[in-house]
Amino acid sequence: MDNATTKWNTKLYNDKHSFVYNYGEELINLLDPKKNERILDLGCGSGQLTSKINELVKEIIGIDISPEMIQDAKSKFKNIDFQVADASSFRFKEKFDAIFSNATLHWVTNYKSAIKCMFENLKSNGKIVLEFGGKGNVQTIVNQLRDSLANRGYLEQSKLQLWYFPSIAEYSTELESVGFRVIMAQHFDRPTELADENSGIKDWISMFGESFLKNVMPKHIEEIKNEVQEMIKSDCLKNGKWFADYKRIRIIAIKEDKNAC
Ligand code: BEZ
Repeated sequence: MDNATTKWNTKLYNDKHSFVYNYGEELINLLDPKKNERILDLGCGSGQLTSKINELVKEIIGIDISPEMIQDAKSKFKNIDFQVADASSFRFKEKFDAIFSNATLHWVTNYKSAIKCMFENLKSNGKIVLEFGGKGNVQTIVNQLRDSLANRGYLEQSKLQLWYFPSIAEYSTELESVGFRVIMAQHFDRPTELADENSGIKDWISMFGESFLKNVMPKHIEEIKNEVQEMIKSDCLKNGKWFADYKRIRIIAIKEDKNAC
């Protein structure tokens, strides 16, 4: 799922950024889905993980704020219910046994509302299994992008806050404040290999950081992407391959049954 202003390029996503859902398969093991369960995939993107979970459960619904992604998911997986919906305001009549979310919640800057929605749409004793960008995520790329923008006078763009990358302490505190019990929390480095050996970082910016380049003069756009890639070479180019400095948080939390003793 993304913020509403980003228009996703589903082809670039599937061709060069499939690591987003490839890594998510580990998270399905943590979800440990059961045959009789009804699951929500929050920020399902183009539906690959939704379809994997679908094979294991009674029912799954995939939601994403991006109409392009939902259209792509529907065209690939015709038997699954995919809907355009916002992570910070979704509401279903029937509650879920579990909510699963991979590589989405860092886009949801209205995180308090998203946490409330997850809580309200879960059955009692239901669980959330989440993975997304944590504190310090992609800071090498983004710090350089901010510098390259600021050096050319794009001060407003250089200060944009597109994402929410909390520590596990911050996020767990937010979850606990609405009534979740956090039973697992991890924060770890995941240097992530990018598909193209020539333009890995540039492609990453094209895919995920285009909002920084809004209203930047066309002649500066390519220049900035080139400069960012060049300047972070020593940190992000290893044995001829580009890596993004991803840091993930993983959380499992339970909606406590208020009536339990
Ligand atoms: C991430 O998966 O960590 C991520 C993706 C796009 C933008 C920022 C972070």
